[in-house]
Amino acid sequence: MKKISIRNAKFAKIGLQDMCDYINKHESTRSMCLVEIGCYVGDSTEIFSKNFEFVFAIDPWQNGYDDKDAASFQIDMSIVEKQFNMLCKESGNICKIKAKSEIAVEKFIDYTVDVVYIDGLHTYDGVKNDIKMWLPKVKQYGFICGHDYGSKHFPGVKQAVDEHFGKYDIKTFSDSSWLVKLDEL
Ligand SMILES: C[S@@+](CC[C@H](N)C(=O)[O-])C[C@H]1O[C@@H](n2cnc3c(N)ncnc32)[C@H](O)[C@@H]1O
Repeated sequence: MKKISIRNAKFAKIGLQDMCDYINKHESTRSMCLVEIGCYVGDSTEIFSKNFEFVFAIDPWQNGYDDKDAASFQIDMSIVEKQFNMLCKESGNICKIKAKSEIAVEKFIDYTVDVVYIDGLHTYDGVKNDIKMWLPKVKQYGFICGHDYGSKHFPGVKQAVDEHFGKYDIKTFSDSSWLVKLDEL
């Protein structure tokens, strides 16, 4: 069966690897755990699993969460989830959590996560809430980051990120990932 991919644009995977390399320059990602919110088939999760010691992968894998996001209605999520399950089997360092971000966050203790990557609900409110909920979970010297900063399809992402972190150094990458190092806050 042909594999589904959401990161097939030219820099979509390179930019994310650049972000991992950037984090790795500060501290070895091999000893870090990353939480990813919104995983879809796992294109990004696969890159994280190759760079980080451990990845918590959060997604409800349910259609219809946002009528402006093609990933929400284009393909049956049970097919998407099956492809993700294959990746989990192969990788050995991914913990799949089938839940919405707002439910999964309750499983995490404050200041225990090295990196949070936000790529779930792409509305202004969705990103704003994810930042608010997940920021307390990140360690003092950790990183908060996400996808689609500056995307014309999802203007709410940049709006929410700028509103929260505008005064600080927001690093961006060629796949439109954004990143803030917490000790700079
Ligand atoms: C754009 S896709 C993620 C793409 C993936 N990170 C990548 O780069 O390959 C967005 C995903 O967010 C998930 N999602 C939507 N609402 C969510 C929520 N409230 N909590 C967690 N994930 C959510 C969707 O199911 C979908 O799989």
